[in-house]
Amino acid sequence: MSRALISTGGGRRGEASRGSTVDMSTDLAGIALPSPLLTASGCAAAGKELDAFMDITQIGAVVTKSIMLKPRAGRATPRMSETPSGMLNSIGLQGPGIESFIENDLAWLAQRGARTIVSIAGESVDEYSRLASKLRNVGGFEAIEVNISCPNVADRGQVFACRSESAAQVIQAVRRNSDSRTPIFAKLSPDVTDIVEIADSVIRAGATGVSLINTLLGMVIDTRTLRPALAGVTGGLSGPAVRPVAVRCVWQVRQAFPDVPIIGMGGIRSGQDALEFLLAGANAVSVGTAVFNDPSAPLRIHQELAELLAERGFARAADVISYAHRPEETTPVRSAEDDGGVEDWDFISE
Ligand code: DHB
Repeated sequence: MSRALISTGGGRRGEASRGSTVDMSTDLAGIALPSPLLTASGCAAAGKELDAFMDITQIGAVVTKSIMLKPRAGRATPRMSETPSGMLNSIGLQGPGIESFIENDLAWLAQRGARTIVSIAGESVDEYSRLASKLRNVGGFEAIEVNISCPNVADRGQVFACRSESAAQVIQAVRRNSDSRTPIFAKLSPDVTDIVEIADSVIRAGATGVSLINTLLGMVIDTRTLRPALAGVTGGLSGPAVRPVAVRCVWQVRQAFPDVPIIGMGGIRSGQDALEFLLAGANAVSVGTAVFNDPSAPLRIHQELAELLAERGFARAADVISYAHRPEETTPVRSAEDDGGVEDWDFISE
């Protein structure tokens, strides 16, 4: 599905793009993807449930829920709370553990023919090393996303992505224990003073690229019970509420590192949102919270993005990546006669 057939409903812009095709293929750190649309880790488990609603082989890749070494029950409930334009969650990295994941989930994804990016999470540098070693021994995936930014951990010291040194230590360990050809994406937290500094440290430590952004640390208090809404007290904020923060992070990291592969995510629920991330510099985008009320959102957004690109005259999705960073065009000099008076200019300068 590297080419999306555009059939729009009519109207002036629709006519311009009717019947045209947009090449939606994307190169992500050397991986050839038929689409820049991915699932976001944590919102689609290992893709099986979403496959009932959309053909998961048609999107760029499935990014799996962060897997840890051992099976884990996660936090007590309640684990989720709605927020304005978003969602707060504290799952606590529930999962089956790496052995079961490899045997069941990764095997299923391979047999299904889906491209897979495996997300890993650990409580120590050693745990990340062991996860990487186990994955190296089995293969069958396209890349590793290293979740060093889960907000729902026992203490903030475990949010490795909040400090350059600890972020680098984890990435170095994963790099050392992975096949040298496996792309490694470090998933960063927006809850830092300078995201570019953290990106710099993980890139120096051997990350191929970065995933921007993980959820923001948030909190909701239930005004009926007069207690925190989540059993975990604090949680990770996601959804459209965080999108401008995510776009800003992608923009800043792209500006500092013109060639580093970036997976962008944070509140994407339409083709327009995805386009915003590509314009900011993302090479691919993950769709997370949106799948909870539209499980076919990644595929729908793929189509919407293709239509928007055609309307804007782009033949290839790859051409729009970082497009918002291009130098400003020279502002045409307009005379007062051009638009019938000086009022417009007076207004602009007020
Ligand atoms: C969890 C992990 C995350 O990385 C995140 O952003 C939110 C929640 C979790 O499992 O609790």
